[in-house]
Amino acid sequence: MIHSSTKGVIPQIAAKEHFEQINHLFENCLEEGMVTSENISSIGVTCGPGLIGALAVGASWAAGLGESLRIPVYGVNHLEGHVFTLFLSEEKPKSFPILVLLASGGHTMLLNWSYPDAFRCIFNTRDDSAGEAFDKIARILGLGFPGGPDIELHAEKSKNKKRYRFTVPMRNRSGFSFSGLKTEARKKIEESKNLNIDDFCASFQDTAFKHLLEQTSKELRSGSYKGLGLVGGVSANKRLRSEFEHLAKKHSLQFVVPPLKLSTDNGVMPAIVAEKMSRGEIKAKKLSKIFSRFTSSE
Ligand code: KG4
Ligand code: ZN
Repeated sequence: MIHSSTKGVIPQIAAKEHFEQINHLFENCLEEGMVTSENISSIGVTCGPGLIGALAVGASWAAGLGESLRIPVYGVNHLEGHVFTLFLSEEKPKSFPILVLLASGGHTMLLNWSYPDAFRCIFNTRDDSAGEAFDKIARILGLGFPGGPDIELHAEKSKNKKRYRFTVPMRNRSGFSFSGLKTEARKKIEESKNLNIDDFCASFQDTAFKHLLEQTSKELRSGSYKGLGLVGGVSANKRLRSEFEHLAKKHSLQFVVPPLKLSTDNGVMPAIVAEKMSRGEIKAKKLSKIFSRFTSSE
């Protein structure tokens, strides 16, 4: 709501809102019976990557709660949080390695995920992320923020998906890149007199997803994967989900994707990683150790 009125996230405002809301949010969880102070055994808090102000508010608040409840606090990587939502997929991940596409507002990368080992980044975008391109084009079109859901809604209403044509990026190379597509889309908007928003969104979305699919397909052919996963905010898009499901089927791989409401950022992400850390399933990163890097005098 706050970010939609500014059509983007302003770091200082995000930090201030975190500070003002975080305690209410926790109190609401207690009041609505989602948790009790007694049944929290550990805390997971996102430590990065992200906006430093908002991260600092979350980490300090979590450290305080951990101390008062005398329970461990684990620092969680935001990307790891997205990947771990795959444990909540309708069908649990069966065997590894799984090739995961993480497409969000800050990242668009292919990961080789070999649980319980840490994941390995195959490549990240060379410039903009997929979500960033959706958000920027939505903004130029005068749609809401974040832009992905609005572009999806317009695309669903399109009657002529081929009215506008875009160039699929990086056809002869490996990697992701969205800045060229974004510039092409911006120019088309500026040059068009009677833009049909539905058809425009459908073609733009189609091209962006073709790029994601082509690069993922290329990597599937060159590696020996046991499954295909799709995470990050952009994975909330139903069209992308079904195209990835189809791609997995074509390669006879298990397809894993989080439930729709866990595709975009949410509190379950750090919680599920922290739970695995507290059970010793993966290497624990205690928040106190992460903090000591900043507070030690050496
Ligand atoms: O993972 P996320 O919630 O936050 C970040 O870590 O960045 O991803 C947010 C991104 C935004 O760019 C938003 O436009 C995009 O995910 N997104 C979508 C959809 N829902 C959210 N993109 C395409 N279709 C959607 N339905
Ligand atoms: Zn995210």
